[in-house]
Amino acid sequence: MSPNSNQTQTTIDKKSAPTNGQLKAFINQADQLKQQIRQETLSLAELKQKYLGKNGLFKKLSAQITTFDADQKRQAGQLLNHLKDNLTHYIDNLTKEPLNRQSKIDLTLPGLKSTQGHIHPISQAIEEISDIFEKIGFVRVRYPEVEWDWYAFEAVNMPKNHPSRDEWETFFVDAPSHHDKGKIVLTPHTSNGQVREMERVLKKYGKPPIRMVNIARTYRRQQDVTHTQMFHQFEGLVIDEDINIQHLKGTIDHFVREFYGPNTKSRIRPFHFKFTEPSFEVDFSCSLCDGTGQIEVTDEKGKHQEKCKFCKSGWHEVGGAGMVHPNVLKAGGIDPDKYTGFAFGWGVERTYTLREGLNLDDIRLLYSADLNFLQQF
Ligand code: PHE
Repeated sequence: MSPNSNQTQTTIDKKSAPTNGQLKAFINQADQLKQQIRQETLSLAELKQKYLGKNGLFKKLSAQITTFDADQKRQAGQLLNHLKDNLTHYIDNLTKEPLNRQSKIDLTLPGLKSTQGHIHPISQAIEEISDIFEKIGFVRVRYPEVEWDWYAFEAVNMPKNHPSRDEWETFFVDAPSHHDKGKIVLTPHTSNGQVREMERVLKKYGKPPIRMVNIARTYRRQQDVTHTQMFHQFEGLVIDEDINIQHLKGTIDHFVREFYGPNTKSRIRPFHFKFTEPSFEVDFSCSLCDGTGQIEVTDEKGKHQEKCKFCKSGWHEVGGAGMVHPNVLKAGGIDPDKYTGFAFGWGVERTYTLREGLNLDDIRLLYSADLNFLQQF
């Protein structure tokens, strides 16, 4: 075997490397140690101990040197010096840059939570309202907010130029009119869904019953602390044979108990709407004063009654209601001699902000996109 035929891939001077197989294995091991230490995930102390410690890998490797002859010892000694420098240098560098080492992935750290939002309070209210009515057999629908004059007004018994339209401060869309259905408006109330629902049910089933809750966006030209130009309403419509005011009152009672709490009562007061006859305004009892309008206060004057600041009268007015006008039934193709019905329409924002403890004095905040405000819900 020629003295140089056993050259190995080592870091020592290859020309002078001896051919001895033992030395070759030694050189390989030294090389491996250098590679191995760079793959370790041990702590610094553990690294030091494992490689440079009293019983460390370096010590074990150096022990082999005793078996070499003088020339090999010289070679191996050089190699060991070189290896020791290399390992020490590597470990020293890690001590100098502890941050670098820590920045390697630490699988034991808890993960970063991504911030999670929540649905808007009005969307939450809409879900709750839908749930309450769906449980008693109402079908949730959503009719257009950009609507023909016909569905928003004429079909619900509000003829063109009728003064009652003034109360629905309507936005008109600058677009061509329909020959039958008239102008395009942003619907000022969800009552536009009444005749649309009659048409849908008649087309699908040929006849009532109808039990609809239409929750949709509505628009009116007014804006102040209790009004936004865009708001939401929910509209109930029930049509069947022998439907009377008791059904209306029972449904409203059920809703206020579910939404505001089991002790809440509702009351209906005579009012006027073109699309219902008779018509009512609907109030619910104030949960702070239990509908009495008085609150017991104890201060320097002692125990006494004060006017409830939340409701001022014991009741909160929330919406309109009534028995569906025969003209509206006719507009929807339903025979008013055979069928009767009731309807109600309330603002979602108002219904929601009157919840006890909400104390929202400016309804516009709901649409301010102010996270400080919205995150409270
Ligand atoms: N549409 C009426 C409003 O916007 C509310 C209402 C609906 C009244 C249904 C009676 C029946 O004020």
